[in-house]
Amino acid sequence: MKDKFYITTPIYYPSGRYHIGTAYTEVLADSIKRYHALKGENTYMLTGSDEHGQKIQEKAKEAEKTPKQYVDEMAAMAKELWAKMEIQYDDYIQTTEERHEKIVQKIFDRFMEQGDIYKGEYEGWYCVPCETYFTQTQLVEGKCPDCGREVKRMKEESYFFNMKKYADKLLTYYEEHPDFIKPAFRKNEMINNFIKPGLEDLCVTRTSFDWGIKVLKDPKHVVYVWLDALTNYITALGYLSEDDTLFKQYWPADLQVVGKDIARFHLIYWPIFLMALDLPLPKTILVHNWIMMKDGKMSKSKGNVIYPETLMERYGVDATRYFLLKAVPVAQDGLFTPEEFVERYNFDLCNDLSNLLNRTVSMVNKYFEGNVPSYCGIPNEVDEEFETFTNEQIEKFEQKMEEYEIANALQEIWVLVARTNKYIDETMPWVLAREDGDEEKLASCMYHLIENLRKIAILIKPFMNDTAENIFRQIGIEKQELKTWQFIKEYNKMEDTKVIQKGEPIFMRLKAEDEIEYIKNVMKN
Ligand code: MSP
Repeated sequence: MKDKFYITTPIYYPSGRYHIGTAYTEVLADSIKRYHALKGENTYMLTGSDEHGQKIQEKAKEAEKTPKQYVDEMAAMAKELWAKMEIQYDDYIQTTEERHEKIVQKIFDRFMEQGDIYKGEYEGWYCVPCETYFTQTQLVEGKCPDCGREVKRMKEESYFFNMKKYADKLLTYYEEHPDFIKPAFRKNEMINNFIKPGLEDLCVTRTSFDWGIKVLKDPKHVVYVWLDALTNYITALGYLSEDDTLFKQYWPADLQVVGKDIARFHLIYWPIFLMALDLPLPKTILVHNWIMMKDGKMSKSKGNVIYPETLMERYGVDATRYFLLKAVPVAQDGLFTPEEFVERYNFDLCNDLSNLLNRTVSMVNKYFEGNVPSYCGIPNEVDEEFETFTNEQIEKFEQKMEEYEIANALQEIWVLVARTNKYIDETMPWVLAREDGDEEKLASCMYHLIENLRKIAILIKPFMNDTAENIFRQIGIEKQELKTWQFIKEYNKMEDTKVIQKGEPIFMRLKAEDEIEYIKNVMKN
């Protein structure tokens, strides 16, 4: 077990409402954080917004606001959404805060003094929305390779960071730290596409707009977005500030979660900046794939955007979080379709999980007046096999979580849910309850079902906190320790447990056609 766990998400551009794709990054990181907290680690999660640059300046102008007013309102909106999605971040950084800006200036000066940053002239193909220059060969059919829009030929005096100087050191670091990049194929992508062809120096200032952090010694320049944005992960902890307690406590990050589109910046430039600052690198950078729609990327113009609020308001936070995590297997893109959403809801959450709870609670009421029988050892082979299977599933879940294979970890929980449902069919409690049945076996069967529901509730807690608490409540688990990871494999701890008198379904079956129609309609509007 690690004693601390510092996890970061990217800081988001405040350019509009966040769709389920952006929400995915946040839910993924939050679930990983909650899992580590469940294991007793001292966790700290950082998120925030990336508020400088020409595009934001233009957006603010459109909205007839000052840039600062605009970004503050957007940050408030983001915080509201994250609260609704039950994201437990510990700090929210805005790059327009003084605590960030001052340190970026210090870092810039240090790079200048060290000779890592030099003045030059930049000329290239510039994509305004992406705020990125591209070389001729990087363009796709003459357009921006990231967003497909028109690019402009531009030239300006700029400062550059000497990336080439660190290329070999970075390659060696990759080789010596196999856990640094997950999934591993992203490492080869970086090496083959960017490092081997020759790393280009990175332009780190602009003179063409002024909504940015001023370079102190040359104030017509503002720090260009990536040097500004990436350093948030350390400025938020108080790096180089008067109080750097958090920095000392939490850096290096244990996990930095980023989407595939910003992999290059996090896997190449970020480690190089850290090397130049002589700081340790994060232990792992996890690159996740995207949620796609049938017709490609989500976009307003295609009318295929889906917002998290739409799903949460009708189906609840937990079902929304579950779907997002299940849909993207991290290392591959996932698809959002209304059909798939409703199917996962009806099958996984309603049929498998909710019904298991319901059947169990009503049987314990029927056969034992709600009192959970106490553990009487392992009376037969079926129960023995069931316990072994359960323990193995918990271990498989743990392995997947440690590897950050979140969709697969959820899959392991559902294998356990399915096995627990099957246990009911195998043991046939209704036969054991007959006059000529077997009271001892019936008691053991009820005990094991409740025990597995307790374990399942612990496993799902990082992803679906309310559902887990609801299960604990219905099966009568009150003692806090029985909800902890430490006690997950324990048996024989549930004396005097009583289930509620009448079970309540945690997920009600949806009328598939109506709901598919509903989601499709909202997407159009
Ligand atoms: N501001 C930069 C990040 C700077 S980090 C120092 C940025 N912001 S963003 O708002 O455009 O994107 C934030 C995150 O949302 C990225 O990790 C991106 O991959 C993720 N996603 C955006 N659309 C997505 C999907 N459709 N699916 C999954 N994640 C998606 O980039």
